[in-house]
Amino acid sequence: MATKTKFQAIKGTRDLLPPETELWNRVEQTAREVFSTYGFGEIRPPIFEPTELFARAVGGETDIVSKEMYTFRDRPEGAESLATRHSPLDSSLVSLRPEATASVCRAYIEHNMQQLPAPLKLYYLGPMFRRERPQKGRYRQFYQIGAEILGGTDAPGIDAEVIEMVMLFFARLGLEGVQLDINSIGHSAPECRRGYVEKLRAALVEVRDQLGEDSKRRIDTNPLRVLDSKLESEQAIIAKLPRISDHLCDECSKHYAEVKRQLDLRGVPFKENWRLVRGLDYYMRTTFEITAKGLGSQNAVCGGGRYDGLVELLGGPPTKGIGFAIGEDRLILSLQEAGKGSVTQGRDVYIAWMGEKAQPAAIAAARKLRGAGFRVELPPTEQKFGKALGQADKLGSRYALILGEDEVASGQWTLKTLADGTQAKFSEAELLEFLRHTRVVSS
Ligand code: HAM
Repeated sequence: MATKTKFQAIKGTRDLLPPETELWNRVEQTAREVFSTYGFGEIRPPIFEPTELFARAVGGETDIVSKEMYTFRDRPEGAESLATRHSPLDSSLVSLRPEATASVCRAYIEHNMQQLPAPLKLYYLGPMFRRERPQKGRYRQFYQIGAEILGGTDAPGIDAEVIEMVMLFFARLGLEGVQLDINSIGHSAPECRRGYVEKLRAALVEVRDQLGEDSKRRIDTNPLRVLDSKLESEQAIIAKLPRISDHLCDECSKHYAEVKRQLDLRGVPFKENWRLVRGLDYYMRTTFEITAKGLGSQNAVCGGGRYDGLVELLGGPPTKGIGFAIGEDRLILSLQEAGKGSVTQGRDVYIAWMGEKAQPAAIAAARKLRGAGFRVELPPTEQKFGKALGQADKLGSRYALILGEDEVASGQWTLKTLADGTQAKFSEAELLEFLRHTRVVSS
C-alpha cells in the first residue's frame, strides 16, 4: 500500500489566499492605473531564461547569481523528461528569473524595440525566484512590480520622474513611513567609480583584521558591497571609509546634482545615502531604495537605478536605461501592518430561496444582480430561512434577499439588511435601483 504523503508548499514559497488576494489585486490594479498615466505599457517576459543572461546582466559575482538562482539543465529537444527518467542531459542551463530587468533588456534587443519612439516605458508584474534564507518579508518565490525606461536620453528629469511615479503609487496606496534614499555610484571609468573602488579597496585592506568574513571576501570580489554591511561591529569602520560622492567625475557629479534638483522640483523628499550601492552589477549613476514601516530587517520595498550600459552588454545598441522593482510581498505586509490591508470580504446579497416556484426566480435574480456587478451567493439547494440567514451572516453578506413562494406570487421581494435586521419589500426593478443607490452611498 502506498504511504500517504502530506504535501506542503516548498520552503520559502507560499499560497496567497482569499481574502488577502483581494488586496494583491487592488495593489496591482493601482500600479496599472498609475503607471499608465505616465505612459507605461505592460511587458510579460518568460519566467525562465538562459542562465547566461542573468550571469552577464546581474553579474556572476553577485549573491543573486552565485548563490541564489534556481538553475537546471534543460533537456535537448525530443529527450525524455527528467521526471520520467534520469539521464545525463546535455544542453544549456536555464534559470528561473531572479529579477526581470535582464529579461526586459533581452526582449528590447530581440524585438528591435530601439526602432519604437524613445524612450520606451515598460512595466511588469510577477513572480521572481531567489534561493535566499526565508524570513519575514523574504521568500524564495516572491513578487515584483517593476518598470523600466529604455532608450532616449539620460536626462536627470527621467530619473526624477520614475522615482516620482513610485512615490505617487505608494502614496495612492496609503503606504506609511516611506523613506527614499538616493545615491550616485558614478560610471565605471578610472576617473570615476573605478578610481574610487581602488581607493576604497586600499582603505579596506588597512582595516581588514577588523572586518567580518563576508566583508573580507568582498575586498577582492566587490568592495562596494562592504558599504552595504549591516554587521554592527563594522559600522564605525565603514563610517570612516572614503565616500563615492567625493570621487565622482564632473559629468556624474553634475548628473547627480540635477537629479536632486529635479526631485525637489517635483516635491519628492529624499535622503542622500552614500552607502547605497545595490546588489546588482548593472547600475551606474543614480541608485535608489525605498523603505517602509512595519517590515523589520527586510524593510526595502523598492530598489532601482540607472543602467545605461546593460543593453549593449547583452549585445544590443548603446541604450540608456533606468528602472525599479517593488517587492510586492513586502508592500502588502507593510500595508497590513499599518491596518491598510482591509479588504471588502463577503457578499452583497445572499439569496435565501425556498420552494419549487422560487428557484427560477432566484436563478434569474442572481444572474441579474451579478450582471449589475454585485457579489451574489445563490445556494444550490433550498434551505430553511433560518439556516439561510445564518449562512448569509457567516459569509459576511450585507443583505439577504428572501424569495419564498409568497414573494414570487406577489412580485414583492423581501430584502433584509443583516447588520440591523430591518426588512423592506421591493419589486424586482425597485430592488436593483435600491441596491445601486446603497452601493454608491457605501463606497
Ligand atoms: P532588487 O533590489 O534585487 O532589485 O529587488 C527589488 C525589490 O524586490 C527589493 O527591494 C525587495 O522589496 C524585493 N525582493 C528582493 N528579493 C526578495 C525576496 N527574496 N523576498 C521578497 N522580496 C524580495 C531588482 O530586482 C532590480 N531588477 C530592480 C531594478 C529594475 N533596477 C532597475 N530596474
